[in-house]
Amino acid sequence: MSVLPNENNKSQVMILPDELANQIAAGEVVERPMSVVKELVENSIDAGATRILIEIEQGGKKLIRVTDNGSGMSLCDAQLSFSRHATSKIISSADLEGIVSLGFRGEALPSIASVSQMRMVTSDDEHRGGTQVVVEGGGPAQVKDVACPQGTTVEVAQLFFNTPARKKFMKGDSTESSHITQIATQQALAYPHIHFTLINNGRKVIDTLPTDQSLYRIAELFGAELAKELVSVDARDGAYRLTGYISSPVYTRSSRSAQYCYINQRFIRDKVILHSTQHGYSHLLPKGQHPAIFLFLAMDPKLYDVNVHPAKAEVRFAYQQEVHRFVSGAVKNAISGSGKLPSPSEDQPVKTRDIPRLSTRSGDRGGEHRSGIFSVERPTGDLSRALEVMYRVPESHSSSSMDRAQPVPVPPQVEIFGSKPTPVANLIYSEFEPLGQLDRSFILMQGKQGILVVDQHIAHERVLYERFSKAAKNKRVEVQQLLFPLALEFSPGEAELLALHRDRLEELGLELELFGKNEFLLRSVPAILKNNEHAEIMREIVDMLPAQQHEEALQEKFEEILVMMSCRNAIKVNMTLDLDQIRKLISDLEQTEMPYTCPHGRPIALLFEMDSILKKFLRK
Ligand SMILES: Nc1ncnc2c1ncn2[C@@H]1O[C@H](COP(=O)(O)OP(=O)(O)OP(=O)(O)O)[C@@H](O)[C@H]1O
Ligand SMILES: [Mg+2]
Repeated sequence: MSVLPNENNKSQVMILPDELANQIAAGEVVERPMSVVKELVENSIDAGATRILIEIEQGGKKLIRVTDNGSGMSLCDAQLSFSRHATSKIISSADLEGIVSLGFRGEALPSIASVSQMRMVTSDDEHRGGTQVVVEGGGPAQVKDVACPQGTTVEVAQLFFNTPARKKFMKGDSTESSHITQIATQQALAYPHIHFTLINNGRKVIDTLPTDQSLYRIAELFGAELAKELVSVDARDGAYRLTGYISSPVYTRSSRSAQYCYINQRFIRDKVILHSTQHGYSHLLPKGQHPAIFLFLAMDPKLYDVNVHPAKAEVRFAYQQEVHRFVSGAVKNAISGSGKLPSPSEDQPVKTRDIPRLSTRSGDRGGEHRSGIFSVERPTGDLSRALEVMYRVPESHSSSSMDRAQPVPVPPQVEIFGSKPTPVANLIYSEFEPLGQLDRSFILMQGKQGILVVDQHIAHERVLYERFSKAAKNKRVEVQQLLFPLALEFSPGEAELLALHRDRLEELGLELELFGKNEFLLRSVPAILKNNEHAEIMREIVDMLPAQQHEEALQEKFEEILVMMSCRNAIKVNMTLDLDQIRKLISDLEQTEMPYTCPHGRPIALLFEMDSILKKFLRK
């Protein structure tokens, strides 16, 4: 290829001036006010702060101020920090392979400064005084000495004032501030020892007390009601450790609003982790429902790359399958071992001085930065008491956007019998004596705890599913040869799918023989298929077969097939059962690993508590 010299032989390729390069970088780092808060708070965390105050005005569009009590900076570092690629966090490419800090690119401050009016006040030694740096729209820095306590305050005013096109993309104040609340929540969850405060237009939205218990922090941010539904996860495997809390399958939400995953304390929106968690719940979740998850994966930073995107919200794992297997196994074990809710006595006591309060007085002003705001001590007390008191949150429950998103705790004196019996998650069925059936569909049982109502169809579905699934795993499915093989015709695409998965189907007891072009002979079925709907079941299976050979997707689909066949063969509603049949079913159910939810995630039994019954009859 020849290069034609241009007319006046001047080069058209130019190095961009710093100001412009920073603005371009800002396009990737600073998407909206929330990204500014994220970057500034990450810097505070990296600086070892134990107290971080975030103040915003007009959704962060007018002002964002982040104040910390971290290491602070010397005069020289303060000036340098506004230069592109200036970082104290890595020095060589080897460091890039094992990043332990939240920042490392050295571009957040110059990028933000290029699209706002920025002021930083910082000191690494309050006796020696501090430095103020002011930068407007990425222009030259004005530096002067000031007196200030150790730590750093960064103020970002009039975001995007010099980039009108970007400014237009910002949404209304409440949308922007809810994004900021979300990011602050993410960060506060990962660092329970840090005291976080978020003040929106002078109103305290978040104010967390420092603790060494992440459950306590979760309770403070999401309410004790949710915290009580969580089971703890703690698993280790070679280079991986997973800790945190997840909700029992009985407690779900219709959105993913309570799902938080972290890798080495960095919030990550990662498909592998989310999918493996979902997989860990296998068929315990109702359709369209999502568990609450707060999971912290700790692993060697060399085993993943976080330098995928400037916002650092995604990672690339070196061994994706390994991570998937580990996380889904850990989640599965946590749920199957859960039966009970986490008992606060098993946790180390939290050192709390005071009772945590979800609500904060609206109108609290924390605007000015005074050294006094950092004088909060670690509280004392214990988690169970704290949770209990939070459960009885006072009427002053504020209406901040954070609080509104949380379920309002039910005061204990509210009568719930009749409107809300409890789906059971930890009782022993054999402690109840069967009385008979209700509407030939539900089993009624009585015990000391009250009246138990068991859905006969889904109880049996759980029994069949576990038996079938265990047998399939051990390749020991009991098979029933058909006296007259069933000829089934399919479309060419379906026939292809059946041929592709024939071996696997045979492991489930479905033996198929190719017979003609798109025709198969079904020679055997699993013995659990007691009814004769073989053709219909094969049709359903074909619809469920995946075209791909990806092992995980396949496993999932075959699980679904197991669930479907169990459902088809379970005792139906409107079927009379005598007491012996009921006893047999309940004893089979008790022997399953997950006796409280069906493979579709619905609760198997509801308990009408004795206490509520007594109250209803005014005997208590
Ligand atoms: N709050 C703070 N306290 C102490 N030092 C800080 C603070 N904020 C920034 N710094 C210093 O300024 C440097 C530049 O910050 P900046 O956010 O631009 O880059 P970074 O954090 O190193 O990398 P990234 O661009 O990935 O965030 C940091 O490396 C750190 O040394
Ligand atoms: Mg940074």
